[in-house]
Amino acid sequence: MADDPAHVSKPLAHDSARLHVQGEAAYIDDIREPAGTLHVAPGLSPVARGRLVGLDLAKVKAAPGVVAVLAARDIPGKNDVSPAFGDDPLFAEGDVIFHGQVVFAVVARTRDEARRAARLGQIEIEAVEPAISTQAAAARAEKVLPDFDFGRGDVAGALAGAAHRLEGRLAIGGQEHFYLEGQAALAIPGEGEMLVHSSTQDPTEVQHVVARVLGLPDAFVTVETRRMGGAFGGKESQASQTAALAALAAHVTGQPCKLRLDRDDDFIITGKRHAFLADWKIGHDDQGRICAYDVQLDANCGCSADLSTGVVDRAMFHSANCYFAPAVSVRSRRLRSDIVSATAFRGFGGPQGMLVIERAMEAIAHATGRDPLDVRKANLLAPGRDLMPYGMKVEELDTLPALIERLEATSDYRARRAEIATHNGADPIIRRGIALTPVQFGISFTLVHMNQAGALVHVYQDGSIHLNHGGTEMGQGLFTKVAQIVAEEFGVPLNSVRITATNTAKVPNASPTAASSGTDLNGMAARLAAGAIKARMAGVAAAFWDLPVEDISFREGMVFGGNESISFRDLARRCREARVQLSEAGFYKTPHLDWNRAQKTGRPFLYFAYGAACSEVALDTLTGETKVLRTDILHDVGRSLNPALDIGQIEGAFVQGMGWLTSEELVFDAKGKLLTHAPSTYKIPVASDVPCDLRVALFDNANREDTIYRSKAVGEPPLMLGISVYCAILDALQGLAPHRPVALDAPATPERILMAAHALRAASAS
Ligand code: MTE
Ligand code: MOS
Repeated sequence: MADDPAHVSKPLAHDSARLHVQGEAAYIDDIREPAGTLHVAPGLSPVARGRLVGLDLAKVKAAPGVVAVLAARDIPGKNDVSPAFGDDPLFAEGDVIFHGQVVFAVVARTRDEARRAARLGQIEIEAVEPAISTQAAAARAEKVLPDFDFGRGDVAGALAGAAHRLEGRLAIGGQEHFYLEGQAALAIPGEGEMLVHSSTQDPTEVQHVVARVLGLPDAFVTVETRRMGGAFGGKESQASQTAALAALAAHVTGQPCKLRLDRDDDFIITGKRHAFLADWKIGHDDQGRICAYDVQLDANCGCSADLSTGVVDRAMFHSANCYFAPAVSVRSRRLRSDIVSATAFRGFGGPQGMLVIERAMEAIAHATGRDPLDVRKANLLAPGRDLMPYGMKVEELDTLPALIERLEATSDYRARRAEIATHNGADPIIRRGIALTPVQFGISFTLVHMNQAGALVHVYQDGSIHLNHGGTEMGQGLFTKVAQIVAEEFGVPLNSVRITATNTAKVPNASPTAASSGTDLNGMAARLAAGAIKARMAGVAAAFWDLPVEDISFREGMVFGGNESISFRDLARRCREARVQLSEAGFYKTPHLDWNRAQKTGRPFLYFAYGAACSEVALDTLTGETKVLRTDILHDVGRSLNPALDIGQIEGAFVQGMGWLTSEELVFDAKGKLLTHAPSTYKIPVASDVPCDLRVALFDNANREDTIYRSKAVGEPPLMLGISVYCAILDALQGLAPHRPVALDAPATPERILMAAHALRAASAS
């Protein structure tokens, strides 16, 4: 059956596509409010760092419609919504740690009344001078977590002995998630228990945090998530506070309570991608081959640890991308600053680590006069040059070279490079640039225990199937893919499989839907559950027809054996009559993972996803504006479970990566106030920013690891294809002063490009 699948590998639409476009897909704020629902609004700190010495909420309490005002003292359990380290309070208590930190909350009859009242709080803080930028944080040298490093060889010696040495410093900006649906939760109190509808990637974590805050056992809290209107990592740990605020309000008032953050508040209160400051040194030969790479990655983690262990580790894991460095040293610092705590964002640190070496590749090409693509090719992992900086030996060495070769041909890279040179020779104002950059992204949570998933499948007596698993739907199409897998297993039409909301009461102890592993994990767990039920059903049919069970097959809604057949529906009914269990919990854990962080040995990833993008940009040297003229992408999703969804993921991720590196800029003032807290000042790519010519193709491949139908994860890896745009901009600028390296931090906004162009012109004139 796997050879001729009915559902798997088909380009089917997202199960909610129609509902999405018709406005009928229910998000948290669309759930019909139970009678008596109250609304919550947070009161925020006006200061980044200091001691909270007074909190006068009398005016808040007296405001129209206010039912309750909540602060730290009202918490029956622990004042902590952090994912691991106990350093993210629900409400500031004692110290204030960032501008916009939640100090209190208002519960009122309407959302508007709650928000108006929240402005009336009198918060008295003895302020301390804050450190905001990565550089200021580095100078202060406070850490949210200990330093970490790995590498091999005599890097200093290899650098000293290298034919050529280059070095640079790259500042890399953070990124706001800008999910369309903001953080939201609806909490409904019951008989001592609490039901929370939460827009979260991690219902289990929200359950655990709400229970901790309320002082309840986890079993008293149920969290349900049907879908999110986007998450991008921003609802992995960051959904907890919103959910806990709603739940605490419901607990205190005894009424259902809802919190849907205002967009500006969402920008201010919730974490973003980590900004990095990277110092790199590279030694190479005349051909541009690396002999040594040394990189210091300083992450601006903000005011708490949050997920910074994993995020910065992943930056380190991806700091060599797909290249081999014989001697390599990767060091990281997790710096504390007085801004909102940085968190997961698509790629989880990987993009920052990868950008640095891709920037270095452009520098090597410039220094050697070789084409950047040839430099990249010369440095690819290869037999005998197959070790990652963290010691893992890469086995799938042939995919990326073949993929790059193909893309080089289909994008017409060489001819266009020549054309661009001609154009640039003739046009002093509008310069063009091109870059073809590869991606190698490790798949698995690097915290080994998180690589597990559960599913719950019921077959009802009418043959309809109820599907549930621990994964969450955020638009990526996970629910569709897992439904395809279950329909395939039972050989039934896709619409026989009822997709249901993620719920901690159905599948417990789930991991967040993150690290792109949603389908790998939950698809496998669901298939195991379905397979177990199917085996029992086959047993019933076999006994009935007196055939060996191997002769029974399921397809097209029917069950066949010998010359006999029965509908799936009738067999389900018979199984019930025969008292055969038609329900099963599936459980899967990823094999082969044994990364040991303390020892710096072992295997953190089951496999790698590969891709490459070739982008061409036009750059206006008088305004700094850029436009992507064309992007060609070839991406490896193994054997695609659903090419329509996979291509959608690739397009979206590429554009999001391009936005991170070109237009999305977070600006904090010296006092730690986020100035870019709305779409008016924070620019995500819009339809007109998408390359007018965008060609996405899937690379024909099958996962060598035994993943679900030999597919590969797709969610995050293509974000790093956006690096091709950044490198194409470097390329366009490079020619302005042929012997000068370009200095260009990320994001490459028009301002930065304009300043870089001016500096280069001035340098070449002198
Ligand atoms: N796609 C959409 N439409 N919306 C999202 O929020 N999140 C991304 C990616 N694709 C996201 C998305 C992130 S950060 C991850 S980790 C994966 O989806 C998670 O889902 P998966 O594991 O099922 O791929
Ligand atoms: Mo994705 S950043 O792993 O949620």
